[in-house]
Amino acid sequence: MHMTESLTVTEISVPKVPTLPDAQTVTAVTHWTDRLFSFRVSRPQSLRFRSGEFVMIGLMGENGKPLLRAYSIASPSWDEELEFYSIKVPDGPLTSKLQHIAPGDQIILRPKPVGTLVLDALLPGKRLWFFATGTGIAPFASLMRDPETYERYDEVIMMHTCRDVAELDYGRQLVESLPEDPLIGEFVAGKLRYYPTTTREDSAHMGRITDNLTSGKVFADLGIAPINPETDRGMVCGSLDFNTDMKAVLEGFGLREGANSDPAEYVVEKAFVG
Ligand code: A2P
Repeated sequence: MHMTESLTVTEISVPKVPTLPDAQTVTAVTHWTDRLFSFRVSRPQSLRFRSGEFVMIGLMGENGKPLLRAYSIASPSWDEELEFYSIKVPDGPLTSKLQHIAPGDQIILRPKPVGTLVLDALLPGKRLWFFATGTGIAPFASLMRDPETYERYDEVIMMHTCRDVAELDYGRQLVESLPEDPLIGEFVAGKLRYYPTTTREDSAHMGRITDNLTSGKVFADLGIAPINPETDRGMVCGSLDFNTDMKAVLEGFGLREGANSDPAEYVVEKAFVG
């Protein structure tokens, strides 16, 4: 009786040690520019996801409540870790803190993947286009590493536009490494084409994705036929304005927006911004 009482008292008086729900451990961090970084974390054993989906991740806020944002998973589903690609917003509630994470730190990850940028939301086709601005390339970093992407399509074209050349680096290094990749290289070789452009710094190809599609420049540069609803499928990920303008461009080519429950010729998702 005495033991029970003292145990009870002890339990009440010891301050509760906060345990992070859904905690995962950071394994690597790469800073690409002063505005962009990528990081890898441990993967929950039970997490299954489709390439292109996003999850909620974040940190514990000072008020003891989790501060979470939607992040596309940038790694492929066969990877034993998870990768994310993020902007650093100086006064952003989450990214102002998240940009300081280091290997060994913990983040919160809710293991409930969702999203529309999935292969199943598109009708079968021959060419698959990925259209991204800025960190909108993250879901395509996953899809470009998924063998199923290449099993379903004869050709995959990655268009990525950033303001400056350095902001293309994450995507460029990934795309350039894929043909030599021991796991995915044989699927990718000869099928993946890359069309990076910048808008505020000189580079080999310049201009907004929307302009390069409507002018026909990208088709001329790649030596291919224009987008056609019979053969072409598209996935769009960028800012709200970019997504809106891209929808109009793709509808102009005769493509219709699809969804998981109603596959069609293109799908859209907003990139995480703050
Ligand atoms: P631009 O430099 O002409 O604004 P941000 O860094 O602002 O998110 O922009 C990333 C890239 O997306 C930039 O190259 C930017 O071009 C481009 N962009 C922004 N808005 C649009 C849009 N509505 N349509 C096409 N491209 C856009």
